[in-house]
Amino acid sequence: VLADYGISPTHGFLPDVLPLTRLPDPYYNKWEAVAGNLQALVLSKRLRGVVDRLPVLSTTGLEHDAEWRRAYSLLSFMAHGYIWGGDSPSDRLPPAIAVPLLEVSKHLEVPPVATYAAVCLWNFKPLFMDEDIDNLENLATLNTFTGSIDESWFYLVSVAMEARGAPIVPLMLDAIAAARENDAVTVTRCLSTFAERLDDLTALLQRMHESCDPTIFYNRIRPFLAGSKNMAEAGLPNGVIYEDGSGTETYRQYAGGSNAQSSLIQFFDIILGIEHRPTGEKRDSAESERAGRAPAPKHNFIMEMRRYMPGPHARFLGDVQAVANIRDFVEARRSNRTLSLAYDACLSMLSNLRDKHIAIVTRYIVLPSREVRARSRSRSPEATRRRVNLATASRQPQGIAYDARSAAQQDSAKQSNLKGTGGTALISFLKQARDETGEPAIEQW
Ligand code: HEM
Ligand code: ALA
Repeated sequence: VLADYGISPTHGFLPDVLPLTRLPDPYYNKWEAVAGNLQALVLSKRLRGVVDRLPVLSTTGLEHDAEWRRAYSLLSFMAHGYIWGGDSPSDRLPPAIAVPLLEVSKHLEVPPVATYAAVCLWNFKPLFMDEDIDNLENLATLNTFTGSIDESWFYLVSVAMEARGAPIVPLMLDAIAAARENDAVTVTRCLSTFAERLDDLTALLQRMHESCDPTIFYNRIRPFLAGSKNMAEAGLPNGVIYEDGSGTETYRQYAGGSNAQSSLIQFFDIILGIEHRPTGEKRDSAESERAGRAPAPKHNFIMEMRRYMPGPHARFLGDVQAVANIRDFVEARRSNRTLSLAYDACLSMLSNLRDKHIAIVTRYIVLPSREVRARSRSRSPEATRRRVNLATASRQPQGIAYDARSAAQQDSAKQSNLKGTGGTALISFLKQARDETGEPAIEQW
């Protein structure tokens, strides 16, 4: 059944067939050549010229899904390189990218942008075929924008986490079956193993610090992962036109790449019965209604991100959600201490993972963004007043226009404007997600 959803019992949401390092049909050599030289072409600012002269290749030569996935990854790297790799962002994607990217995305049921699938799930290779891929020492990336080890590491930490977390999927499906059969011993055992694995995942996440430098991440890598939604201040007010030759092209807007698009982490929440509310919504929303306040606009980012997952993976999450029973099972047996403890350990491990992640976001986004602001404040007002070009905008996604407000005022305004590539308000969003992780436990005790 897992196979029906494109999920591997050993690799989880990573493909069972390893990502191809090259499209086998020489017809696609031109794509391979551009993607293979992406760093040099971006650096020399020649990528756009080269892509503009590229022929529109047909997707009929793509056979197995591994080929479609390779094509999708190549084309999304080319697309984001094209959009963000110039003095100012391009609000159009030429036919050589737009036409095949739209076809490939439709086939794979993914949006035509650099998603988590494009840069992580389908963009790695093992260094040694006889070793596991849940080991960071055995992984390499296929495509990058910058060619830096920092960028490779940033993607590979996620790949290793997906691989290490993969066995949790069949394990917890077994737990659902066991709960149905009233087998508390098996459910307890599954939950304990799950908790241990979560701890392993946090250890892997922490290894981000080893080889991904925050300044490089913030200034060099992150700008390429940006989307086309709410990007006015970075110079893309309307989004991007995909020139598909239909004659009816309109601006499209997509969120940028984010690990919130990882099906694995959402699977954990679903299994444990953790509910994520629309951002800004408190647990007891009835209370705010009683106080006469208008309900907050309902924008559930975590649900929205399912649309950025490969279609079969998103359907899997929906189907698991319909049968998830562990939380009810545990709550109905509060007197079973070992069961409750095992469940609670999972919640606290997952909330610990989110805690460590928040610390990473502070170090990799919040602090570097302050540095950039401090530097630009010390520049002349004239220079800063000018329209932000990409170089500046990408370093400060919220853009900067000098005005006469005090530095402190500016600082708090800018801070609240800081957005993740997915489009959230960063820390407040992430803290809410972490706090929601702990909630079922509070009910329990
Ligand atoms: C969400 C940053 C690495 C898992 C987010 C968000 C940001 C962010 C800003 C908010 C969504 C958005 O607007 O984009 C970072 C940075 C990282 C990093 C700077 C490393 C330098 C990772 C890794 C994982 C991960 C390796 C692997 C598990 C998540 C998840 C969410 C998320 C699951 C959704 C929120 C949640 O479920 O709590 N990340 N991230 N992140 N990130 Fe990361
Ligand atoms: N979502 C991550 C960010 O906002 C990649 O930088």
